[in-house]
Amino acid sequence: MKFFLDTASLDEIIFWNKLKLVDGVTTNPSLLSKDNNDPITNLKKITKIINGPVSAQVTFDNHLKMIKQGLNLSKISKNIVIKLPSNIEGLKAARELKKRGKKINITVGFNPAQILAFARINVDYFSLIYGKTEDWGFSNLESINETKKILLRMGSKTKLLVASLRNPEQLKNAIISGADIVTIPPSTLNMTYSNKYSGLAIKKMMLDWSKVKKSHKKNYDKN
Ligand code: E4P
Repeated sequence: MKFFLDTASLDEIIFWNKLKLVDGVTTNPSLLSKDNNDPITNLKKITKIINGPVSAQVTFDNHLKMIKQGLNLSKISKNIVIKLPSNIEGLKAARELKKRGKKINITVGFNPAQILAFARINVDYFSLIYGKTEDWGFSNLESINETKKILLRMGSKTKLLVASLRNPEQLKNAIISGADIVTIPPSTLNMTYSNKYSGLAIKKMMLDWSKVKKSHKKNYDKN
């Protein structure tokens, strides 16, 4: 099980990487648009911090342009993974870029059936979108397990990467449903480790502790 960070923020990457929670990073045009930095410079900095895979997404809808852009993006660093859309143009580009030895992440997959053609050519990652479906009023939670079953049935080397995880519940569901990798936004990690009930329980313990006699506490609280 690997944990990627779904962000282009250098501060967040540095923070979570120090806690050894970042096996890789996924970016997309929306994430790279969040600050006014040059995206290529930003990606270069990310690949210097993180040794694992760093996904950089193409911004064209024509496969020839995707290939050209993908090859350029892969020059940034050897750990760049080219992110392509899960459609026919993305498939054409994936075939060519695989032939050239590039690592590929197929993104914004919503239906398990979309993985078929990509699993046959053993792309490195298939990103199945989960949180966004619940934003939109439905849920493809079951698709996680179904997609994993398809990969196993096909004997594919493609890894199932579950993306768009909005909260701890979705993070947990993705893991127990069969994700090989989860890519987690920093906001979801923050939510996970600022659990309201954990906070309340600790507060109550500290309140009780404050009532212990000073002389009794002295030895225990020594540091
Ligand atoms: C996946 O490939 C995307 O980069 C990302 O996880 C989508 O997340 P969003 O739903 O927050 O846009």
